[in-house]
Formats: sequence, structure tokens, C-alpha cells
Amino acid sequence: MNAPRLIQIARDDPEAMRAELIVGLTAPCAALAPKYLYDALGSRLFAAITALPEYYPTRTEAAIFRAHLGEIAAAVGPASTLVDLGAGNCEKAARLFDALAVRRYVAVDISADYLKESLDRLQYQHPAMEMLGVGLDFSQTLALPVEVGPGPRTLFYPGSSIGNFTPAEALDFLRQVHVACEGGALLIGVDLVKPVSVLEPAYDDALQVTAAFNRNLLLHLNRLIGSDFDIADWRHVAFFNAAASRIEMHLEAVRDAMVRWPGG
Ligand SMILES: C[S@@+](CC[C@H](N)C(=O)[O-])C[C@H]1O[C@@H](n2cnc3c(N)ncnc32)[C@H](O)[C@@H]1O
Repeated sequence: MNAPRLIQIARDDPEAMRAELIVGLTAPCAALAPKYLYDALGSRLFAAITALPEYYPTRTEAAIFRAHLGEIAAAVGPASTLVDLGAGNCEKAARLFDALAVRRYVAVDISADYLKESLDRLQYQHPAMEMLGVGLDFSQTLALPVEVGPGPRTLFYPGSSIGNFTPAEALDFLRQVHVACEGGALLIGVDLVKPVSVLEPAYDDALQVTAAFNRNLLLHLNRLIGSDFDIADWRHVAFFNAAASRIEMHLEAVRDAMVRWPGG
């Protein structure tokens, strides 16, 4: 059996990340990039979200792949190297292995510890497949390491994750994807606007798993910058912003709350 390798690409230096987080926290309308939702616990909570009855995107995408696998394979062509951007538990990509004749699977994710666990599990199920994990924040750069091998490469970006970027960031990201494909293809999953009665419960479920996912951001922040957020002070709020045509997740204080961090 092959053993998956994991390469960690150096992240932004800790001081730059700290500065970015503090600028976001102290802005008049505080905001942080969605990538900070994904520490190891955040990744597990996201995997749980995909099993919720209200969270339709994962089920819908899986059904599309099942129904149209032949057409997708014909359009994309053989993908000897499949690069999964934001691979998470790697389950979506694994469903494409046979149809796309994948020989090397490259899973990229910012949440590197969780990625390692996912790849170890997947390698057990596909012992002959060559697998490589890349711990990388692709919002900084999508420069893939040489170990990924030469192109053409098929890049896979499902789950409507492109919606985490602003339109200008998304355009820049897609340009980088074009370069990283090296003459290959991009298979992307993008959701469409649908009734608020469908959209909002998908991001605010009855079991409150998405609320836990969102509030876990504060625990992640406490570790990253040494802040003292008390999650009991904060509640999850999610709604469809029609003007920006996007779902937004917020954390709203339920009472006056004082938060401190070293140097803050
Ligand atoms: C919404 S989940 C999608 C997971 C899986 N691809 C799916 O469709 O079910 C987004 C994934 O992208 C990863 N991610 C988010 N921002 C990232 C970034 N800037 N760089 C690398 N990975 C990122 C997260 O850790 C997470 O696994």
C-alpha cells in the first residue's frame, strides 16, 4: 500500500496573521476570512454539517455527480492528476476517481491535521493510488509545490466555496487556478440563489451544529491571538444578504462583552 505524503507550505508569518486578525476584529463592522473557521474541530464540525437534513449542497452535488458522471468525465477528460482545493474529508473527490481515471490525488487544505487523517483513511480504501497532501492557505497563493508533478492537472473546487471570496478575490483566484492547471481543466461546483426558506436553514440548522461551527471560530481565535472570547457571550446569526447575493454568518453579542488580547 502507498503511504500518503503531507507537505506543509509555510503560512504567513504569525505576526502578519495576528495583525490581519486584529484589523478584522477592530474594524467598525468586524469581519474575518472564512478560512479561520477551519481548525481541526472546525473541520470535523463542517463534516457533521454535511450530514444535516437542512444542508442540501453536499447531497445535491453528490446527486449531480452520480447522475452526470459520464458527461462530466467527457467534458473534463482523463485526470491523471486530480488536485482537490479545500479537500476537507476528501469524500467528494474520491467519488470521481474511477470515472476520471485518476492516478495521483493531491488534496490541498489549510486544516492540515484534519487533512492528514482524511488522507490516511482514503489511502486505506485506495491502496494503489498515489496520494499527496498539501497544507496550504490558497487565499495567499496557489503556488503548488513541485511534488505535485507536471501538468496537465485537473483542479476540483466543489461546495460553492468560491462564494467565500469577494468577486475581485474570486477573479484573482481563478486566474491562479488557470496557471496551476498547466493546460488541464477546472471542475467547480457553484450554488444558485434559491428561496430564503431553503437557504437560511442550511446555514442555521435546528441541531445548531452550524452555530457550533461558527462559535468555534472564537475558540480558534483565542488560540491564535491569545484573546479571551467567552463563547457564552456570542450567538450565531445567519441570513441571506439579497443585495450582495450571499449567505452571511455573523456572531452577535448577547450581552455587553469585553474581550482582551495581549497588546490589544
Ligand atoms: C466548505 S468546506 C468544503 C470541503 C469539501 N471540499 C466539500 O466540498 O465538502 C471548505 C474547505 O476548504 C478549506 N479551506 C478554506 N479556506 C481555505 C484556504 N484559504 N486555503 C486552503 N484551504 C481552505 C477548509 O479547511 C475546508 O476543508
